Amino acid sequence: MSAATEAFDRWIRSDFVAMNTALEDLYFAEIDRAAVAGVGDDIKAELRDAGQAHVEALAREGNTGAGFESAFDVLGNVGLYLAAMRRHELTNPAREERSPFREASSLALQAGASIGMAPRFASAHLTTHNRAIGGIRKSFTSLHDEFLFIDENTRAMLAFQRAADALVSTQAMGVTNPVADVQLAAATSALHEVVLINGRLFATLDVDRFFYSVRPYYKPYRVGRTEYRGANAGDFSGINELDLVLGLCRANDPTYAQLLVDKMPFMRPADQMRVREAMQRPSLLDTLLDTIDDGGSAWANNAALFLAAADAFGDTARQHHDQLVERFIAQPSASLDAPHLGQVTASGPPLHVLMASLATLRDLRTAADRPGIASRHADMARLRARVG
Ligand code: HEM
Repeated sequence: MSAATEAFDRWIRSDFVAMNTALEDLYFAEIDRAAVAGVGDDIKAELRDAGQAHVEALAREGNTGAGFESAFDVLGNVGLYLAAMRRHELTNPAREERSPFREASSLALQAGASIGMAPRFASAHLTTHNRAIGGIRKSFTSLHDEFLFIDENTRAMLAFQRAADALVSTQAMGVTNPVADVQLAAATSALHEVVLINGRLFATLDVDRFFYSVRPYYKPYRVGRTEYRGANAGDFSGINELDLVLGLCRANDPTYAQLLVDKMPFMRPADQMRVREAMQRPSLLDTLLDTIDDGGSAWANNAALFLAAADAFGDTARQHHDQLVERFIAQPSASLDAPHLGQVTASGPPLHVLMASLATLRDLRTAADRPGIASRHADMARLRARVG
């Protein structure tokens, strides 16, 4: 790491966190917690100028670093800075045509393009690839609820990825292979772990702290002229590998394929590659249905284990939508006035549009009996009837 890169990273892990936390405490004490204009202006200016000085030092260096890891870290740090500028309303894509943070934009564009990712911070920066130094991992604030959110998200992502790894290896050995049973069972057990993690988040995360002090850092912002959607815990390959390997979502469904295409730049390139590979393989559901008539005892055993894994996956999707999104986004949004409501979601579309697209994903993943979407309801029912 160069001296400028290291200094920026140190600042992101220390003063940056302290100033964001101080601002959050000020906003949270206001009667209207969603109004940030005119509150803590001196801290905002200090945060903006100190970050800008680091960015200028890096830009002068003219090098985003040696290799992927270094550019990835620079992208994360400049992205956290821009996301904080957005959160504190020092930039807002709705009122600007280009980012007022020119140097930060060009640094982000250079780092992002050099490693094949969108030029903004991705969820991997705060979760699976958030390297702790001396026990300190990156965050926006030091609020208990932010750490709860990113830690539990990370645990859930890792468990999803373990389930995906197990099922991908099942594909390689063939789902009618007798030894595929251990991998199918391993996937189910990892998905049960996600259910526990989601349950913990639902029970322990503070709704107001999450909604008013954590979630606003995940809003879209502009880099240069282009507006980029916010990060979310879904920006890793495991969840989509599970969709595709199970067969509950299909790459030839135009709505789902569009989602994958849009999502790719928010993933690390290694994850992008995994999704591309998953798009090219036949799903376990299709393979089991193709062999439904000649299934012997290994077929029947593994088909039952497959159904258990698919059901556990469906449970996680139901929880995400009906519990987490409902409790932490939809319900608190109901009390916001129209201008604030327009700024709520990470992806940008109005809340009811976002809710509808998340509901479709839930219904695909639970193979719901819902006409008009590419649900595998009938195919799952056929398999269930054969397994008995
Ligand atoms: C308090 C907890 C959570 C809330 C409120 C929440 C909310 C949301 C919202 C609102 C979106 C849509 C993104 C947007 O705003 O545009 C989203 C996407 C997503 N989230 Fe969460 N989330 C939570 C936790 C988790 C966890 C623990 C996971 C597990 C890894 C997860 C996985 C996903 C995935 C995969 C997506 C992308 C859409 C999809 O494929 O379903 N989320 N989340």
